[in-house]
Amino acid sequence: METYTQLNHKSYKKLKSIAEIAKNEIIDSLSTTLEENNMLNKVDFIESRIKDYNSLINKMKYKEYELTSMSMLKNINDFIGIRFVCKNINNVYSLVKCINEVGKLKIINEKDYIKNPKKTGYQSYHIIIQYDFNIKNNIIPFKVELQIRTYQMELWANWAHDLFYKKRAYVM
Ligand code: GTP
Ligand code: MG
Repeated sequence: METYTQLNHKSYKKLKSIAEIAKNEIIDSLSTTLEENNMLNKVDFIESRIKDYNSLINKMKYKEYELTSMSMLKNINDFIGIRFVCKNINNVYSLVKCINEVGKLKIINEKDYIKNPKKTGYQSYHIIIQYDFNIKNNIIPFKVELQIRTYQMELWANWAHDLFYKKRAYVM
């Protein structure tokens, strides 16, 4: 992959298709880890997405990042997003602990918006990981945002997202 490539519809499509494969690998690997540690029953459901084109470009323009593939990989934490929804807060923290201890993941940042909710009221536990995806002997260092939260937090966030969050200067 030519990482200096300008981000446009074509290069985005290519990156997205690679990210989809990486995302499935991460979900498989995390599910296996959770299963091996008898933790999978603490997860109600898993959702995931690749950030869509407009949302990515708007965010990068707003943050004044260079619009290249390389800059996207370096600066954007949530090109790949994976969400774990649990029944209760205890399960959220059990999961966080498990991911930290046995996840074999390169964790680059963690934010506990459950203990410290955002001003908006948003609650969730975020773990940013780096996933070095190997494709045809090329390493693509994707950053992945794991969001771990309860069903209640999930309902609230989705509701508030449409009402307020999307009204920001850029759309998530
Ligand atoms: P961005 O907010 O993505 O620009 O980067 P950041 O580094 O400030 O990350 P932050 O931890 O603030 O947010 C990461 C993600 O959490 C966002 O992309 C949203 O999915 C979610 N999020 C953060 N704040 C809110 C909020 O107030 N409401 C909702 N619904 N979601 C939020
Ligand atoms: Mg933010």
